[in-house]
Amino acid sequence: MARGKQAVGLDIGSGSIKVCVLKPTKKSYKLEAFGMVPLPPEAIVDGALMNSTAVVDAIQELFATHRIKTKQVATSVSGHSVIIKKINLPQMTPEELEESIQWEAEQYIPFDINDVNIDVQILNTESTQAGQMDVLLVAAKKDMVNDYTSVILEAGLEPVVVDVDSFAVQNMFEINYDVPRSETVVLINIGAQVTNINVLANGTSTFTRDISVGGAQFTDAIQKALNVSYDEAEALKLGGGTDTDAVVPQEVERVLQTESEAIANEVQRSLDFYAATSADAHIARIFLAGGSAKIPALVKTIERRTSVPVEVVNPFRNLEVSSKVADPEYLSSIAPMAGVVVGLALRAPADK
Ligand SMILES: Nc1ncnc2c1ncn2[C@@H]1O[C@H](COP(=O)(O)OP(=O)(O)OP(=O)(O)O)[C@@H](O)[C@H]1O
Ligand SMILES: [Mg+2]
Repeated sequence: MARGKQAVGLDIGSGSIKVCVLKPTKKSYKLEAFGMVPLPPEAIVDGALMNSTAVVDAIQELFATHRIKTKQVATSVSGHSVIIKKINLPQMTPEELEESIQWEAEQYIPFDINDVNIDVQILNTESTQAGQMDVLLVAAKKDMVNDYTSVILEAGLEPVVVDVDSFAVQNMFEINYDVPRSETVVLINIGAQVTNINVLANGTSTFTRDISVGGAQFTDAIQKALNVSYDEAEALKLGGGTDTDAVVPQEVERVLQTESEAIANEVQRSLDFYAATSADAHIARIFLAGGSAKIPALVKTIERRTSVPVEVVNPFRNLEVSSKVADPEYLSSIAPMAGVVVGLALRAPADK
């Protein structure tokens, strides 16, 4: 990765927008700015920007509050408008690949090829089959990418990198954790509406999948079960707002458990799919990111359901933190939510 001037990381999540500025140091990176602003629940639905004014306002507020002068921004997209696949192609040069990919990609993408932006990366020039090579294919719906870059432009900034959430989390993970290449680990980022799953084997991503589950379904379920407003339900989920009576927390606990089981089942289904398509399916550890990693019942249930040890990641683990940025207590309380944005802040404008 280029260690020149960094882009500003900007994670446009459905629960909140996060911003992060990193500066390379001798050993790692220094956190120069970090902030997040919550979004109203209907501003982003299913990855679509329903209320772009709210998003533009939040971005501008973050840049003003944290006095960020850099205009170049790295952002990311995720969900079912993004397809990530490892494919096998005849050996060719990067130039040849660039020319033929539009045509080659067609069979792997469930959308009209003209409706997507395509990005490719040669993973290794010699795959297990003779004369073939492994290529990582990323396709994202143009509509979605345009929506995300438009709000950034509207906020007066310049979108220079559009990544995908899974790979941003992976970049964050790589600067913070050292796992032996022989260990297969899974990074799972459980946000408000989307969960990104990324299996790393031999130090590279071998399987990714985004599933439409997340923290918002806990809030929805609490809202229904207790017949309270969305805000009250969210507060109950976060462990506050217990000014009613003592039976409430127990009911909340029950809902948290039920929804945790549902999400853990979905995660297991994806891991089963990975296992069915890979030779060495043993998973050594799961690392959890995303705000929903703050729900102890979910962490425990995923651990029990998958029979794999689970650890909640700390995206600031190896960063030097300037005391002006934020107090350590605040940073550690929101840490899992910063997984994507820290990964984005590692990107330099010159990266593709
Ligand atoms: N302390 C906490 N306890 C339980 N849930 C929490 C806590 N803090 C945050 N969350 C939940 O985490 C979710 C937000 O996580 P995150 O910031 O990773 O998502 P996002 O990036 O905004 O959304 P997405 O990527 O799904 O569009 C929300 O559902 C929020 O309620
Ligand atoms: Mg997110």
